[in-house]
Amino acid sequence: MALADFLANLEQLAEQAESAFSSAGSAEALEQARVEFLGAKAGQLRKVQQGLGQVDKADKPAAGKRFNEVKRLVEAAFAASQQRLAHSPVESQPALDVTVPGVPWRIGHLHPITQTIRRMQDIMGRLGFTAVEGPEIEDDWHNFEALNIPLEHPARDPLENFYLGVAGATSASPLLLRSQTSTVQIRVMEDCVASTAPGEDPPPVRVISLGRVYRPDTADATHYPMFHQIEGLLVDRGVTMAHLKSVLRLFCQSYFAATGEGQGEQVHVRFRPSFFPFTEPSVEVDMNWTNAAGQSSWMEMGGAGMVDPAVLRAVGYDPEQVTGFAFGLGVERICMRQHGITDIRALYQNDVRFLEQF
Ligand code: PHE
Repeated sequence: MALADFLANLEQLAEQAESAFSSAGSAEALEQARVEFLGAKAGQLRKVQQGLGQVDKADKPAAGKRFNEVKRLVEAAFAASQQRLAHSPVESQPALDVTVPGVPWRIGHLHPITQTIRRMQDIMGRLGFTAVEGPEIEDDWHNFEALNIPLEHPARDPLENFYLGVAGATSASPLLLRSQTSTVQIRVMEDCVASTAPGEDPPPVRVISLGRVYRPDTADATHYPMFHQIEGLLVDRGVTMAHLKSVLRLFCQSYFAATGEGQGEQVHVRFRPSFFPFTEPSVEVDMNWTNAAGQSSWMEMGGAGMVDPAVLRAVGYDPEQVTGFAFGLGVERICMRQHGITDIRALYQNDVRFLEQF
């Protein structure tokens, strides 16, 4: 073989190899090109090298020298491409495809009961009622005794309450999960009396308490062993049933006006005679709400009444000086009525497909 032919072959191959290396877009493609051109057994350069034997004897040293130079150049081209890919972001990350649908952010929001509670606090706050809290584990005094619920009263029945078999609880003074938020009435009045200087009258009270209560009811569409109540208490000189009724009517009207579902709807409040040991007289509170479609019906909201003088006396207020009203309404009922929820259990199953709607 003539030297010129050998060299032409060699230069052409070098060109091909360099262009294959520099156009390789991934480590795999580069490796393929390396095997193709620089492969020790069957690479193209190896084949050219084998052709060296056919070169005319006199030209062999020149051919061999040029071969070694070219081989080094091709190896350098390979190394350069290796460097290029190692620092290339295209290699380490998939290409950005702006047409692929995005992953939407799921933005959380407040549970419907929490929304209801906040709205209630807001409305009652504007009526001058301060929100207070009490413990969910209560003693006999606050859940029953101070509320004028005597020892033999059926409300104390173990079938009606979650009594706790914990340290500190005895049969004479049991502990239980509170069955009503009226417990907070007692705590608030006790605190007021305790912070009053001897010989002075304890201050007027105007509070609401919103929280969980517990009763061993079997869960069904309208019952759940845990639910929420809003308790209101106002104690001052000259408080009457008329104050109670107007506060409740204002509360209901503001609540449903604020929902914004059906402007101009009419809300009425009605009292039915009832009995609670801690109020006298006592009433059941019903609310009538005419929705935007003109439909209306009465809904039971809870109990209310004038604080029994025996309760005022038990905590240190003088029933000859002050009177008070109290009410306790079901939070779930109002929330369900507002949203058209028909099964209370849906509120506590934590199914986001349900909760997301509110
Ligand atoms: N605590 C009563 C209940 O749970 C409701 C109530 C509260 C009644 C305040 C009168 C006054 O049924």
